[in-house]
Amino acid sequence: MKNPYLINFDSIGSRQLGFISVAESLKNIPFSIKRVYWTYYTPHDVIRGGHANIEKEMILIAIAGNISVEIETKHGVKSNHLLNTPSNGLYIPPLSWHNMKYSHNAVQLVFASNIYSESDYIRDYEEFKRKYINQ
Ligand code: TYD
Repeated sequence: MKNPYLINFDSIGSRQLGFISVAESLKNIPFSIKRVYWTYYTPHDVIRGGHANIEKEMILIAIAGNISVEIETKHGVKSNHLLNTPSNGLYIPPLSWHNMKYSHNAVQLVFASNIYSESDYIRDYEEFKRKYINQ
């Protein structure tokens, strides 16, 4: 059973020189990364997400700013997560309904297990609950 969880990336470096963090497929990322994308300039009052993905798994990282994420898994378990450091990532398993809100300066980096395909999306919450919850 796959659940959401926070990844703590090592911060390599020092306060004097700054830091680097590293992501590697099938090492600290629990899948093979097929696609990387980022979102930015999201207005503070906008809620993004509002869908679940049938197969796609993701890691979200707040490279800058804060991201607040609400998740409801296919088991009906709801959780809230705050991403407020570039050394953390949030794993989102397949078939998880998710909503995100962003601070005005947020830059979100996403590692995804699949290429983009609209047929992988469930964008109707009632359909998600009816067809996919408790699978
Ligand atoms: P979506 O995944 O719904 O974004 P979010 O979860 O941040 O709300 O995608 C938003 C739009 O971008 C949608 O019209 C599809 C498009 N898109 C691509 O063209 N390629 C991609 O890899 C992704 C993830 C989205």
